[in-house]
This record gives sequence, structure tokens and C-alpha cells, in this order.
Amino acid sequence: MGEVTETRTESLVFAVNGQKFELYNVDPSTTLLEFLRSQTPFKSVKLSCGEGGCGACVVLLSKYDPVIDQVEDFTVNSCLTLLCSVNGCSITTAEGVGNSKDGFHPIQKRFAGFHASQCGFCTPGMCVSLFSALVNADKTNRPEPRRGFSKLTVSEAEKSIAGNLCRCTGYRPIADACKSFAADVDMEDLGLNSFWKNGESDEVKLSRLPSYNHNNASSNFPEFLKKELKAGANLASKGYHWYSPVSLEQLQSLLQGVEENDETSMKIVVGNTGTGYYKELVGYERYIDLKYVPELSTIRKDQSGVEIGAAVTISKAIKALKEENDYDPHRGKMVFEKIADHMEKIASAFIRNSGSVGGNLIMAQRKQFPSDMATILLSVGTLVNIMTGQKHEELSLEDFLGMPPLHPKSVLLSIKIPCWVSRKKDVSSESDTKLLFETYRAAPRPLGNALSYLNAAFLAEVSAFSDSTRIVLNNCWLAFGAYGTKHAIRARKVEEFLAGKMLGASVLYEAIKILETIIVPEDGTSSPAYRSSLAVGFLFEFLSPLVDTPPEISNGCLNGYNTTEGLMDSKLKQNYDQFGETKPPTLLLSAKQVIHSSKEYHPVGEPIQKTGATIQASGEAVYVDDIPSPSNCLHGAFIYSTEPLARVKGIKFKYGSLPNGVTGIISVKDIPGKNVGSVTGLGEEPLYADEVAQCAGDRIAFVVADTQKYADLAANLAVVDYDKENLKPPILSVEEAVERCSFLEVPPFLYPEQVGNFSEGMAEADHEILSAKLKLGSQYYFYMETQTALAVPDEDNCIVVYSSTQSPEYTHDTIAKCLGLPGHNVRLITRRVGGGFGGKALKSIPVATACAVAAYKLQRPVRMYLNRKTDMIMAGGRHPMKITYSVGFKSNGKITALKLDILIDAGIYPDVSAIMPEHMVGTLRKYDWGALSFDIKLCKTNLPSRSAMRAPGEIQASFITEAIIEHVASTLSLDVDSVRTINLHTYNSLGLFYKNHAGEPLEYTLPSIWDKLATSSSFYHRTEMIKQFNRTHKWRKRGISRVPTVHEVGMRPTPGKVSILKDGTIVVEVGGVELGQGLWTKVKQMTAYGLSLVQCGGTEELVEKVRVIQADTLSLIQGGMTAGSTTSEASCEAVKLCCNVLVERLTALKERLLEQMKSIDWETLILQAHMTSVNLSASSLYIPAISSISYLNYGAAISEVEINLLTGETTTLRTDIIYDCGQSLNPAVDLGQIEGAYVQGIGFFMLEEYPTNSDGLVTANGTWSYKVPTVDTIPKQFNVEILNSGHHQNRVLSSKASGEPPLTLAVSVHCATMAAIKEARKQVISWSGQKESDSALQLEVPATMPVVKERCGLDSIQKFLQWTIVNTIGTK
Ligand SMILES: Cc1cc2nc3c(=O)[nH]c(=O)nc-3n(C[C@H](O)[C@H](O)[C@H](O)COP(=O)(O)OP(=O)(O)OC[C@H]3O[C@@H](n4cnc5c(N)ncnc54)[C@H](O)[C@@H]3O)c2cc1C
Ligand code: FES
Ligand code: FES
Repeated sequence: MGEVTETRTESLVFAVNGQKFELYNVDPSTTLLEFLRSQTPFKSVKLSCGEGGCGACVVLLSKYDPVIDQVEDFTVNSCLTLLCSVNGCSITTAEGVGNSKDGFHPIQKRFAGFHASQCGFCTPGMCVSLFSALVNADKTNRPEPRRGFSKLTVSEAEKSIAGNLCRCTGYRPIADACKSFAADVDMEDLGLNSFWKNGESDEVKLSRLPSYNHNNASSNFPEFLKKELKAGANLASKGYHWYSPVSLEQLQSLLQGVEENDETSMKIVVGNTGTGYYKELVGYERYIDLKYVPELSTIRKDQSGVEIGAAVTISKAIKALKEENDYDPHRGKMVFEKIADHMEKIASAFIRNSGSVGGNLIMAQRKQFPSDMATILLSVGTLVNIMTGQKHEELSLEDFLGMPPLHPKSVLLSIKIPCWVSRKKDVSSESDTKLLFETYRAAPRPLGNALSYLNAAFLAEVSAFSDSTRIVLNNCWLAFGAYGTKHAIRARKVEEFLAGKMLGASVLYEAIKILETIIVPEDGTSSPAYRSSLAVGFLFEFLSPLVDTPPEISNGCLNGYNTTEGLMDSKLKQNYDQFGETKPPTLLLSAKQVIHSSKEYHPVGEPIQKTGATIQASGEAVYVDDIPSPSNCLHGAFIYSTEPLARVKGIKFKYGSLPNGVTGIISVKDIPGKNVGSVTGLGEEPLYADEVAQCAGDRIAFVVADTQKYADLAANLAVVDYDKENLKPPILSVEEAVERCSFLEVPPFLYPEQVGNFSEGMAEADHEILSAKLKLGSQYYFYMETQTALAVPDEDNCIVVYSSTQSPEYTHDTIAKCLGLPGHNVRLITRRVGGGFGGKALKSIPVATACAVAAYKLQRPVRMYLNRKTDMIMAGGRHPMKITYSVGFKSNGKITALKLDILIDAGIYPDVSAIMPEHMVGTLRKYDWGALSFDIKLCKTNLPSRSAMRAPGEIQASFITEAIIEHVASTLSLDVDSVRTINLHTYNSLGLFYKNHAGEPLEYTLPSIWDKLATSSSFYHRTEMIKQFNRTHKWRKRGISRVPTVHEVGMRPTPGKVSILKDGTIVVEVGGVELGQGLWTKVKQMTAYGLSLVQCGGTEELVEKVRVIQADTLSLIQGGMTAGSTTSEASCEAVKLCCNVLVERLTALKERLLEQMKSIDWETLILQAHMTSVNLSASSLYIPAISSISYLNYGAAISEVEINLLTGETTTLRTDIIYDCGQSLNPAVDLGQIEGAYVQGIGFFMLEEYPTNSDGLVTANGTWSYKVPTVDTIPKQFNVEILNSGHHQNRVLSSKASGEPPLTLAVSVHCATMAAIKEARKQVISWSGQKESDSALQLEVPATMPVVKERCGLDSIQKFLQWTIVNTIGTK
């Protein structure tokens, strides 16, 4: 070992929110997040994915540079950043940005005021991302912004949160909160907020916004830290070391001392973001941080190019490449600029800020990482500089990528990007040459953190041919990567083929044919044909503007240009325009919200700000995992089965002994009571597999360890010994379930009734479609907070359990049963839930129960916070299903009969699957089918049990109904919208289908919504415009679709309790749980309204006096489950009943007091009531009357999309929604529900794939493979109107539900995509001259990019070229 390793160990010094931390003995594998969450009071840094993919853990990192006396501020994700690497840095968390004690920051206040926080789990990370953007923008020397604004631009504001996921809001309000700081924002564009009312002037609006002074924007780097600065530290703890060499010599000597052939002996690190992809389960003995070696951290520029040190972060490289353009606009401008632009699409800002250029390339070289960097740099002839021992070597990136994996002790020192310039008078063509460079990537999300299916970068030198009308391709460099290849490659055969050619359709066609033989993804790569077709698409996009086509084919763009230079430029420009992206400079174009608030029940009906939104934004809101661990606390992790049906013979651990920190393993034999993991009225499931594991993902045991990290590591090291002898094969499909008669029961009272007579309906039909088939997959909840619980043993055999659950009561009952305890020994507490969406209705119960069993057995507190992978494997998600339908219809599109056979894959345990038929049929009835007949079976399979997910059954049914309508329309060659319209219910048919749930005639608002939406969104005009667009655009097509929703919901009994304290403040408990849906806010408003009926002075401010408190199952019983969209209104009604009682008690006193005094205010009344022993607490159980138990919700949506035929990318250009909320209890909350649900629906229909392996084990296990919508995938224009449909006698203060029904409207995006695809197919069919019928065309769910492209025709370019070749010959 060299000299440096013997260096004296130093301390690690840094600051968090201005507080100094000095640490010795740090385990170098500790992440910043682990430290912050376990060693500091700052819990705003949330763990959600643990792999750099969500932004929940983002912090601002500030570094001081004493040489220039400047502080550099940037975001990093704390879940991958190693603690030792923050030496000398200052960290700001959301609490440091602002908090309840020192004052909230305007960011936090605006997030609250723009209704941009629902469950709040993503909000601190969002706020920090925006804070960093503000701090950095305001440091620039851009012109002074208007007073109250920052120097940030709208585009930067939107992009600042592009890497942060939110599962609740649908992003629009978050984007508004961010944009409210932007200097160039038009105040008109900012959406609904609690600061101003519509119509107020910009000045008034600005005066009402929480004020912001850009001169104060700073991260406040602590002075004391400036004195602590040193160039990195060498740290040691229990045999583990962290080294920060400051010279190449030190680095060499450190590397020399490393043992050969020992994988765990040493790790070189820069940003450590690579572990987000290659999860590392082991720690290393030595970590060597490269950041302080000058040669690796500098950027050098000269005439020949730009040399970038390998440890330079991607963000800094981008900046340097852009600056390069600034100082000499001609030299390599276009190439550097485009490289920088492409790099901005890598990962997210907070990854680019810590991830290094070298780290990326090393991952690509050693471990086949599907890198963007490698591809783009390959195309421009980049050189790399490597150090092995004392030896330095320069080689081309191409050779570097192609050589065997770099030796662990070799270091990439730098890369050199040569300078590319257009040359004058090329020898071969005797004319000027022009340099063309483009980069491409096709990824599920344009910006938000998604690896590409394929990326490419092309450089070409072209010149004008001597006849001045055509262009010659002199040379080209074509790089492709990430498509399922070992590393990025150059398509040399294509390059050689094209060199010196004058491009025509035939040449291009030949080139593509060669390319097809080169871009062949390795076995096992998903969507291989799609990826190959992307390569063709990108090459075509690059070269076709150079193709010499006759005027009639290229729209005559050759005419009128005389000079070669002019010809080339205009030709290129015009021809590239045909692919020209319609992407606006900002991600979102506009949004409009129309609400009608009502004063009738003030403050009910007001769009007031969500309760607790500011403490959510500052990260002070306490979620289960934020509760400090009681002393002696242990942590658990599930060991689950990876086999679908297998006897469990035993569990061992890899490497023999019990892993580090493990205290024990709990399994079925440790259960003192009954082996139940969840119990509901619909059935129960075991907590742990009893001998036989029933599905992949089934719980086998629970490993308990000192920390969550150790528990997770141990669970990962568990090796289960399975035995399948004498067991039947597992049932892994609905077909097998049918074959083996494996079904779950649906109680008769839950099975819906048929409507009319199917045979008679079919007899009336002019046409029929028989036994058509549809298929639907699952969807994962992706709540930002995964399942979590903390169980604490209490005196006298009692236990207190904190659980993030939608069902405290059921969790309580299950724990009591499992522990064999009387109910009153268990107390279940739920304060807030970081997103549920149905996933925490039942699936949370075994988590809490497992903690309770372990805590009870070990008599120590036990907690668990599921890692994302385990959560995804166990969650089950939505019900997949297969559908067969037969439908009869008239020639005008009127449907007369529909019959459905639906096989639902319910998984292994009953869960709540029995509700599925009723829920599905509730939505299937939304059209007048004449007669509706169905057979719905719940198939019991050896797969994880499926659970309710937001709009369970309804979203599937909305897809089925629209797919049938589309099938009918295309069979008849009718316009789909007219078929929808003709099949909408009349009030009479509505009554026939929904019986007495149909409500009064006036309550049936769908027909008026249908028409109103067409008018407000200019539907018919836009439909014509789209036709025009499709006629004139070859490679982009648009579609539009209008869909209705009729959504039945049911009310359930719900308790409430209202207590008035001596000082007049009010405490409320309700059965419902706050999941982010705004339940507490509505309850607060209702309490204030209910108590204001006492009619004394001071009740106007009552809403400020109300606090809704956590659910506590011993304090308020019969809470049931928070689900089905109606818990808020039921909780409100329960509270109102309490208020009625209290008002009655207080009114008598008030009357008496009024006789003595002229007026009486609230405080005095309550004090008097207290003194005269009036009972100031009332509780109630709201039981819905038969007349109000069930009702229908209505709405409609129109979506317009554009698809890119070359990539399959779908962009939602615009969505308009009108939704009937009755008289909304809080329009701001309901708007949030509508938009958020809709975007979750877009996820289901367009993005979210939840695949399994052949054993049913979920394989999409994190943010890398599961893609929920991000801010760049929501509608560019998003207009929502909440209809106030007036008085509804049987509703809670005339209100209606909003949580789930709007989700089903997202099918409009899918339908619009289908419409666009049909246009694309028509074109391809015309090129191939075939006559194909598209009437049975289906579009899978989700309609991901590969799916859309496949439907458009993977070989559409080849067909086009063939057609062109034939036509060109024909015209010559
Ligand atoms: C969420 C997420 C999304 C991403 N998306 C994309 C994307 O879309 N496109 C894309 O191209 N990339 C993407 N990346 C990859 C990202 O660019 C890399 O993780 C990052 O650049 C690695 O740099 P690092 O400094 O963090 O490397 P580290 O994690 O510190 O190191 C990575 C590996 O390289 C080794 N190493 C690092 N530097 C050197 C060196 N100079 N010499 C020798 N060995 C070295 C390390 O030992 C380690 O094995 C994504 C990453 C994340 C986490
Ligand atoms: S938890 Fe760190 S990025 Fe998701
Ligand atoms: S508010 Fe964003 S995840 Fe819930």
C-alpha cells in the first residue's frame, strides 16, 4: 500500500441547514439520505425509489470555492450520494428552505396556495428542486426581473421539476407554482389559487402572491464552513476507508495498493449514481473519490476541441459545451450545442449534477449500460485518455468501447471531443461542404428520467452537386446505441455504402436494408423489432431531407433556388421541417380551470387551501416513517417466494452465517393467534405461507435486523429451499383457471343484474360482431410512500401500531386476531398516508400485522418501510382480464345488444376482488346497449392477489365500452363520435340501466355536458383542422376523441366526532383517512359550517379553529375503509350530524345568554358552555339512507393527440374536461382530484407496463422500468371545468364525488391515439397498394411507444421508399 493510505484519518465536516456536523468513524457506504433520516431531525428528505429516479430525496448541495470566493449550488439526490463525498459542503433540505418556526419560504407558501400538494410526499423534493433553480437563475447576470419575480424563465421553471415524480396532482398546479416565480410569466397563465380571484389585475395578483425578493435568493453557505475547507478527506471506520486523492500520483499509489482479484476491496467513485442502476448489496473496503484530482476535474478548450476530465459532472460538461458556442460562435458550434442539448435529456438535473461523464462511459464500457453519452460522443470521433498504473494511453472511444471491460485499477482520465467545422471547397466536390449533425433518442418520457429504447447520432459532410440541384453526401459517421447491444456502435457498412453518394430514394432504401442487418438487439431485449425500426426511422429522418425527389413528391421545395449554398440551406431547412417537432419552447402551453364556488354553505364550497399543505412543503408533516424510532427499535423486511407454487422447506442465507445486524426471523410458527395477514368481510388471507407458498411474491418470513438497510440486505441474501414434489402445476393464466375450475366466489348480493334480453336485442340488429376479444393488463399504484408501519409493544399485553393505511379498522381487527388479543389491546394510529390509490386499502394490513407480530414476540418496537422493489412485487395492482364480446347494432350505429364474457385474474387470495363485477358493470352501463348481458368470473390463479386500485373495474370497463364503440364504428365506416352520441342514454334508458340510482331527470347532466364540451373546446372545428393536418403531414398524425363517463359510487356508514375545547378551538375525528385527497380540508370546512349554524358572533373564522386529527381506532371506532371516492362526503356528513347535536346544545345556552347580553361571540359562548357543563363533544355514525346510498357521476373529456410515426411517441396536445361535482364541497380540492386522476389514467392507458416473468414474479421493479407520467407527458393544454349542477337532495350539501370517476375519462387519450393510428395506417396502406380492412384493429393498453409504432407499421418507411422509387421512375 502506498504512502497516502497511511495518512492520518480525518473527520468529515459539513453543514445541514446551517447546523455543523463533524463525524468520525463513518461507514463509507452510508448514503446522505440514510444519515439525514436517521441521525438528524430533518425528515423532509423522503425515500421513495432509492435509485435516483423520483426526486423525493433531493437536497441542495452548496460548495464554496475560496479562490473565486463563490458558492456553487446544485441539487443532488441524497439516496445515492455517499455521505463521505459531502465533506466541506452545506446541505439544504426543505426544512432549511423554510419552516413553520422561522417562516415558510414563498416557494412553500405558493405550493400550498396553488394547491400543488396533495399527499405531500413528493412536495419537499419538488420545493428543493425549484429552490435550486431560483438560486441559480438569480445568480446570473440576466437583466433585472420585474419586482416580485426571479430571473428564472417559464421554461426553466417547468424543467426544474422534470425529474421529480408526483403521483397525486397531475403536475399542472406544481408547474403553476414554479412558473409564478418566472420573470417571463404571463399572470393570466397561472391557474387556480387561493391568492387571487379571476379578473383581478396583474398588479393586484402580484401583491397577493407571497412575496419573493430575488436579491435574497441564496443558499446561505455557513461562514464557519468556509474555514473548514480542505481538498477532500481521508476517512476510516472499522476497517473501511474513504480516500480523496488530490493528485494523479496519490491516485496511482492508492490503486497500486489494492489487492487484485478482489471485487469488494475497492471502488472508484465520483457521483455514485451508477448504484441507482446496478444496485450494490455489498460495501467496499476502500472508496476512492476522484473529484479532487485536478486532471480529472478540469475542462480544457483549444482549437482542436474540448477536453473534459472524467470526473466532470454532466451538468458542468453541458455548461462548458454551451459556453464553447458563446466565445466562438463558428467553431464547432452546432456539434457542441447539439451534444449539450442531448446531454440535457440524460436522467434528471439532480443526477446530471453529480453523475460524471467518465462514470457514464465506464458503465457503458464495463457493464453494457445503455448510455446516451457513449453514442453521441462516438459519432463525433471522441478520444479517451486512460491511466493504467503509470501508463497513459489515448485511444478512440470506439476502440475503448470495443475492448474487454476496463481493468478495475485503470482510470479513465478524460475525453476529448474534436472540433468539427464545415470546410470550404472540398476537393472531391469542388464546392463548399456543409456539416450536418443530429442526435436522436426515443424514450418513454422525453425529459423525465427515462432510458432510451435506442439512441443515435449522425454526423455528415455534404456538398452541392455540380448541377446545383442535388446534394452529395461526402462522408458520414453513424452511431447507434442502447438498443440491446453490448455498447454503442458505428454502422460502418452503411457509412461506407453512403460515402460519396448522391442520395436518392433507392440509395436510401439500400442503406436502410444494410442498417437492418446491423441494428439487431441481443436476445432477451424487449421490443427488438421496434428498436430496429427506430434506427431506420432516425436514419431516414436525417437523410431524407437530402434525398433528391421529384417536385411533386417533395412538395416542390426545390423550386426557386439558384445558388448552391442557398439551395442547400433552404432545401435542408424545408425538408427537415417535415419532421419538425411541434414541441413548444415550454413544456406546457396553457391551462384553464373553470369553477363555480358557492356561498350557500360557507365556508363549504370555497376553494380554500389544503390543510397542512405548507408543512407538507417544508417536510415537517410527519408520515409513519418520519416518527422517530423508539429506543431499541428493530427493522423488518419480508422474505417472499419467487416460485408460484412450492413447499418451503427452509431458509438459509448466502455465505452461510446470519447476515450483519440480523436479530431473528419470524415466520408462521411465531404467530400467537390466527395466521391472518388481512381480514375483511369479503375474506381473509394468511400472513405467512403455511408450508406452501401460493404465488411468487407470497410472504414466507420476516427478517428482523438493527437497521432497515441490514434487514433489506438480509432478505436479499435469503435462499429459500423449495420443493414442488406432488404439487399440481401452478395456475398462471385465466384460461388455466377456467380449465381447472379455479374461481373465487362473488356473493350473490354483489353480483349485478343483466339488462333486457340479449337474444331479442340481437334479433333487432342489422349487423353483428361475434366473439371479439380484448385483453387488459395490470397497473401498479406507485404511491410515493411505499408500505410502512411501526409497532410498539405497550403495557399489559397491549400494542400500538402506526400504519400508513386506508383501513385502520380492518388493520386493527387483523392484528388482534393474529396476535390472539382482545380488540381493546390493539391501538392503530394513522395520521397521514403518502398516497394510497387503493394500494393501502388491504395491502397495507399484512405490513402492519407483520410488524405487530415481530414486536409482540420480541417485545421490542419493530418497524418496516418496504423498499420499492419488494413493494412492487407484492402489490398485485389492478386486475388484468380477458374479455370476449358479441354486439349487435343497426346500420346507423345504434347498438341493440351486448354480451360480455369477462375472465378476471384475481390472483390467489380474495382481497376485495368480489367487488369487481359490480364496479365493472356500473361503468359498462354508461351507454344504452339496448340489452346488456354478461358473465364475469373471478379466476383464482397462483399470482399475487389483485387489489382495488383507483376506479377498480371502472377503468377497465371504460376501455371495454370505448373499444366496442370503435369496433362498431369502423365496421360501419362511421365516425366514432357519432356512434358514441347515438348510444348515449336518454333519461329513460338511464333508468332502465341504473334503476333507482339514476336520480332525478334534472340530475342527468351528461347530455348537456356532452354538447357544452363540444362547444367550449371547438370540437367540430378542430376535427376539421386535424383532417387538414393529417392530409399535409406524412410522419405525424393527429387524432381527437370525445368520451363520456357515467360512474356509480356508493356511500358507506362513517363515524365522526367533534369536540370543542375551552378556548373555542375544535378537534375533529372522522372515519376517513387523509390520503392527499383533501378529506381533512373538506371536513374542516364542514365543521365550520355546521357549527356556524349556532349563529353567534365570530363564527366566520371558525374554519381556522378546527383541527382534524389522526385516525385512532380506540378513540373513534367503525372507521371502515377510505375508498370509493365517497369517504370525504360521508365523513363530512358524520361531522355535520355531530355539529347539529352541538348546535342544539349550544343554542339553548346562547338564547339564555342573549337575554342578558346584547350579543355573544363564539369564545364567550363556549367558555360559558364549559362552565355550565354543557357536553361539548358529540359523536355520530352517519348511515346513508336507501335513497342516498348510491348515485351517478357524469363528465366528459376531449383529447387531441399527435403521434410520431417514426418513433411511436404520442403527445397529448390538449385535453378538455367538464365534470359535474354537484355543488363542490371545495372546488380546488375537487379540481386536484380530477386532474390527478386523469393523469393517473393517462399512465394506465399510455405508459405503465407492469410485467412479470413466466412464474408470475413482477419484473418491473422500480423507476427504471415502471414509468408513471411526468410533467413532460401531461396534456400540453389542460382545461377543466367543474360544473356546478345545483341542488341534489340526496347528496351531502348537494356535492358529488371526484376521486375516481375522472380517471376513466383518460380513455379519451387512448381513443384519440387510435384515431391517429388509423390515419397513419391509411397512408401506409395507400403506399403498399393493398386493400386491408382496419375494422378489427385494436390498440393495446398501455399504448406505449413500441405499441403505437407497431400499429402504425414498423416498416412504414420501407414502404414509403418503395412507393417513392416506383413513382419516381414513373414520373421520369
Ligand atoms: C436515475 C438515472 C437515470 C439515468 N438516465 C440516463 C440516461 O438517460 N442516459 C444515460 O446515458 N445515462 C443515464 N444515467 C446514467 C448516469 O449518467 C450515470 O449514472 C452517471 O453519469 C455516472 O456517473 P457517476 O459519477 O455517478 O459514476 P459512479 O456511480 O461514481 O461510477 C460509476 C462506475 O464507474 C466507475 N468509475 C467512475 N469514474 C471512473 C473513472 N474516471 N475511471 C474508472 N472508473 C470510474 C465506478 O467505479 C463505477 O463502477 C442515469 C442514471 C440515473 C441514476
Ligand atoms: S428516493 Fe432518491 S431519487 Fe427516489
Ligand atoms: S402530492 Fe405529489 S405524490 Fe402526492
